[in-house]
Amino acid sequence: MPTLEIRNLSARVEDKQLLKDVSMTVNGGEIHALMGPNGAGKSTLGYVLMGHPNYEVTSGSVKIDGKELIGKNPEERAKAGLFLAFQNPVAVQGVKLSTFLRTAYNQVHPNEKLTIQEFYDRMKQHMKKVGLDESFISRSVNDGFSGGERKRFEILQMVMLRPKFVILDEIDSGLDVDALKMVAEEIKEYYNQEVGFLIITHYQRILKNIEPQFVHILMNGKMAMEGDNSISLRIEEEGYDWIRGV
Ligand SMILES: Nc1ncnc2c1ncn2[C@@H]1O[C@H](COP(=O)(O)OP(=O)(O)OP(=O)(O)O)[C@@H](O)[C@H]1O
Ligand SMILES: [Mg+2]
Repeated sequence: MPTLEIRNLSARVEDKQLLKDVSMTVNGGEIHALMGPNGAGKSTLGYVLMGHPNYEVTSGSVKIDGKELIGKNPEERAKAGLFLAFQNPVAVQGVKLSTFLRTAYNQVHPNEKLTIQEFYDRMKQHMKKVGLDESFISRSVNDGFSGGERKRFEILQMVMLRPKFVILDEIDSGLDVDALKMVAEEIKEYYNQEVGFLIITHYQRILKNIEPQFVHILMNGKMAMEGDNSISLRIEEEGYDWIRGV
C-alpha cells in the first residue's frame, strides 16, 4: 500500500512563514479533505509538496513509500507518483494539449510502451468522460479555456498520468452541476486501494459524492483540527469560529 508521509513541514516565501509544522499521512485507499479559511496555506501546501521553487522548505520531510521528496524537482516528484491539480491552472501558449499530455506521460511512465494510437484512444475516451470535445486536442494548453474547462483538463491529466497520490486544489470551484458530476465520477472511477487523495475544498458539494475518511483544518499555516467528516459538516453550518475558539 503506498504511503505519503508529511512530517513537521515548514515553508516560507522570503521572510513570510506560510506553513508551520504540518504533519499528515495519506495511505493508498484513503480520501482526505483539507479545509480552512482563505489564505490559510492550503494551496501553498500543494505547491510545497509538488516542489514549487518559490517556496523555501525550512524544515520537515515529505516521503512517498519512505523515499524523500524534499530537494527533488517537480518532475521527479511526479515520477514518484505525486500529482497536483491546480486551483488556477495556467495557460501554456504554443503547446498543444495532446503534446503536453504525451510529454508528461512519457516523463512519468518512461518504461511503458503505449503506442501513439493507444495513447490517443485512451485520451479521447477520458476527454468524453470529463466533457471536453476532441477539438481541444489541438488547442494550446488552457489558452482561452474557460474556468470549468481548465478544471476538466486537470482531471484529464490525473487519469492519464495515473498518480499514486492526488492533490485536488478546489477542483469543484467554477464547475457547473453537470461537470461536477462528471468530475466526481472520474475521481470515483480512478479511486482504488493503490491511490490516496488529498482534496482541498471549501464545500461539502464534491465531498457529497466522495466521502472523505479524514478531514484536516489548516489555519494560519498550522493544522488546527483533524478528525472525521463531521468536522466539514459543522463548518458548512457554522463556519470556522468554533475552531478558532472565538
Ligand atoms: N509568493 C508569495 N508571496 C507572499 N505571500 C504569499 C505568496 N504565496 C502565498 N502567499 C500568501 O500565503 C497565504 C496562503 O496562501 P494560499 O494560497 O496557500 O491560501 P489558501 O489556503 O489556498 O486560500 P484560498 O482558500 O483562498 O485558496 C496567503 O496569505 C497568501 O497571500
Ligand atoms: Mg487556495
